[in-house]
Amino acid sequence: MDLKKTRQKAEIPVPQVLQKELRHVLKPASTSLQKEFPHTYSTPEVRFIEGARERKAQRVGVLFSGGPAAGGHNVIAGLHEGLPKGSILVGFLMGSAGLIENKSRVLSSEEIAAYRNLGGFDQIGTGRTKIETPEQFASSLQTVLHHQLDGLVVIGGDDSNTNAALLADYFIAHNCSTIVVGVPKTIDGDLKNQEIEQSFGFDTACKMYANTIGSLMSDLLSSKKLYFFVKLMGRSASHVTLECALQTHPNLALIAEEIREKKQTLTAVVDQIVDMIVKRASQGKNYGILLIPEGIIEFLHGFDPSTLEKEMKLERDPHGNIQVSKIETERFLIQQVEMALKKRGDYKGTFSPQPIFLGYEARSTYPSLFDSAYCYALGRTAALLVEAGITGVMSVVQWLDRPVAEWQIGGIPLVSMIHHETRKGILKPVIAKALVDLKGAPFRAFETLRAQWIDKDDYRNPGPIQLFGPDEIAWSRTKTLSLSS
Ligand code: FBP
Repeated sequence: MDLKKTRQKAEIPVPQVLQKELRHVLKPASTSLQKEFPHTYSTPEVRFIEGARERKAQRVGVLFSGGPAAGGHNVIAGLHEGLPKGSILVGFLMGSAGLIENKSRVLSSEEIAAYRNLGGFDQIGTGRTKIETPEQFASSLQTVLHHQLDGLVVIGGDDSNTNAALLADYFIAHNCSTIVVGVPKTIDGDLKNQEIEQSFGFDTACKMYANTIGSLMSDLLSSKKLYFFVKLMGRSASHVTLECALQTHPNLALIAEEIREKKQTLTAVVDQIVDMIVKRASQGKNYGILLIPEGIIEFLHGFDPSTLEKEMKLERDPHGNIQVSKIETERFLIQQVEMALKKRGDYKGTFSPQPIFLGYEARSTYPSLFDSAYCYALGRTAALLVEAGITGVMSVVQWLDRPVAEWQIGGIPLVSMIHHETRKGILKPVIAKALVDLKGAPFRAFETLRAQWIDKDDYRNPGPIQLFGPDEIAWSRTKTLSLSS
C-alpha cells in the first residue's frame, strides 16, 4: 500500500460548526491606526452563527507566502470545498510575485485532490516577495481586477499578513471590492495572540524535529562519545526550541528571549555550556545534547550579528530580516566552547562536538493529523469570510486543544495585530511577532524541569509523527498548546 495515496484519500475531520449552515455576525472593533489604515482601521471581528444565507458563486485568488509549513495544501482544499458551487479558485504562482506579475492558474478539483493531506507548497509554489512599492501595489490591484476577484486569500506569516492588511486598505482606497483574508502560517509559531492559538505547521515541524532529537539522544546513549549542538529553525522566536525541549528533555536548551531578558553576553552563554560539559565530565559523561534557536545571535547582549552577516556576505531578506538559517551558529558556538574549554584548567574530559541543523526538512513533510484538520478548517473558514465580504480579516480556528468536533471559527481584524517596528531603519506598521513569553506556562514548565536535565540523562524520544493509531498518540497536541490552554 502507498502512504501517499492513502493520505490523499483520507477523510479530514471537520469541526461540527462547519457542518451547519452559517451566517456571519459582526462585533465592532477599532484601532488607533487611522493614519496608516484609513479604510480598515476599524475592521470588525467576524463570528458565525447558525442561520440561512444567500449564496452566490465566488471568484477567489489564493497564494502562499514565505517559507512552507505542513498543511498548506489543505487550506486550499478547505477553501475550495467551502466556496459555493460554481466558484472559481485562482492560484497565484510563487507567492506575491505571482500576484504582482499576474502569473496564475485556475485550480481544478482533480488537482486539489492530488495534493490533499500532503506536505509542501509545491502545488502553486511560494516566495518572499514583499509588496512594497507603489508599482507593486498597482500591479496587484490590476491582477485582482483582471480576474474579477471577490476575494484574495493570503496564506502567510507575520510579514505576509502585514502585506495582506496593506492590500486590503489599498484595494478599498482604489474602489476595488476584492476582499482580503489572511491565514496564519509559519513553523516558527510566532504568529499568535489571544485569538490565534497556534500557526499551522508548528505542530508538524516540532514533532518532526523532536523525533530527530530523540533519535540523536538514543544514539548518544548508545555510543556515549559526542556532543550534539543542534540548531533549530524558528528565526527570531524560540518557540520551536522550547517545544522541542519540552518534548525531548535535552541537557541544555537556550531560549533567546531569556538571554535577552537576562542581558546575557556571548561569553555568559558559552560559560553556561562549558559549565554543563565540565559537570557532566566529572560524572564520566563526555557526551550530551543542546538545542540552539537559530535566532539566538540577535538576542545576545552586546553582540552585533551584522559582523557574522558581513563575514558570510549575507543579504537581508525582502522584509529586512537577517537570514539566520544561513548563519552556522551551531559551528560558531562550538568554536567558542572549544576555546573556553582550553582556558579551563580543571577540564579533564574529552569534547567531541557534532554540529547539526534541523531546518528545512520539517517545513514540507506530510502534515500531522492535527495540521491536516486545522488547515482544512482554516480554509473552510476563509471561504466563509470571503462570502461574508469583510475585508482585512484573518481566518481563525480556536479551542485547538479540544477534539476537532468542538473547534470554533471566526475572523479577526488584521489591523488589530499591527504595531510599529523599525525595519531597514524606518518605523513601519507590521504585525507583531509573538516571542516566547517568559511568564507563560510553557516557559515556566521548562524552567522547573531543566535543572535536572543537565546531568541526568532524562532524554525522551517521542518517535515519528503517527498518521494512524490511537487518538492520544496520532492526535497529540504540542506541549506549548496544551500548556497554554
Ligand atoms: P516563515 O516565517 O515565512 O514561515 O518562514 C519560516 C522560516 O522557516 C524560518 O524558520 C527560517 O528562518 C526562514 O523561514 C528561512 O527562510 P528561507 O526559506 O527564505 O531560507
